[in-house]
Amino acid sequence: MVNTEQLEGATAAIKELIAAKACGPILIRLAWHDAGTYDDSIGAAAWPKCGGANGSIRFDPEILHGANAGLKNALILLEPIKAQFPEVGYADLFQLASATAVEVMGGPTIPMKYGRKDATGPDMCHPEGNLPAGAAPWPTGGDAAGHLRAVFHRMGLSDQDIVALSGAHCVGRAHASRSGLCHKAETKYTAAGACPMGTAATGGASWTPEWTKFDNSYFQVVKDPKDEELLALETDTVLFKDPEFLKYAEKYAEDQDAFFADYAVSHAKLSELGVAWEA
Ligand code: HEM
Repeated sequence: MVNTEQLEGATAAIKELIAAKACGPILIRLAWHDAGTYDDSIGAAAWPKCGGANGSIRFDPEILHGANAGLKNALILLEPIKAQFPEVGYADLFQLASATAVEVMGGPTIPMKYGRKDATGPDMCHPEGNLPAGAAPWPTGGDAAGHLRAVFHRMGLSDQDIVALSGAHCVGRAHASRSGLCHKAETKYTAAGACPMGTAATGGASWTPEWTKFDNSYFQVVKDPKDEELLALETDTVLFKDPEFLKYAEKYAEDQDAFFADYAVSHAKLSELGVAWEA
């Protein structure tokens, strides 16, 4: 049973944490990497083998997967909140932190549900390789668009979900010491004193200038790349090349309300992948 009082307490604590550390982006990435292991061909009935939003990312070996480099920092940030509100499960806490981060940074309210069952040990971790690669050679073969489809369709998500969820790159940065997938170790947007919230550690390359603000600027800058200080991975630029992705990407570049409405639906779907609910 969900303890509403503890959930509300944890929400308030997460808001304070984000205000103090500007850590909203990494909290979003943590929840996405917990959920994104889901394999729809196994199906949620086979919990926890199917992967998904079950909190297994907190265990070795999953947190040590190459794709999760740097996410240990997010676990460390959330641990005191877990200790303070022990009845909020890990899987719920990770998803709560992400949805709260989206909202606090100016994004839409996500229609969230709570009561996820937690994975209880490392034996419930998922094999490496279920999350998308950010650069060629694509482990699934083919091109960037094919890779995104192979990975997200395996989760049971659609082309529209791929484009909407990619819009989360409106916030955050890539770091040389984590993914290594940044063209510069530091940019004018991530250097000392440049953090829009004033409080984050420096360095890395952001997709957008105001990288602690959740908005549709990601689609605008990826569509019309003029600023060499900004990052765009091949999996970002392909959204404006592949004809099916392009339909949604163009819409979101033009209309922030349309992006927010679709993002909220896709984010909620992502947060429920593979979930077994507590009775
Ligand atoms: C479409 C395929 C995706 C690829 C290839 C991808 C790749 C990456 C990479 C390489 C980084 C940099 C990590 C680092 O060096 O610290 C990153 C960061 C990030 N990603 Fe994605 N990502 C994808 C989808 C998503 C989705 C679906 C979400 C959420 C809904 C998301 C949210 C984020 C956020 C918020 C960050 C910033 C983290 C930070 O600032 O610490 N990404 N992503």
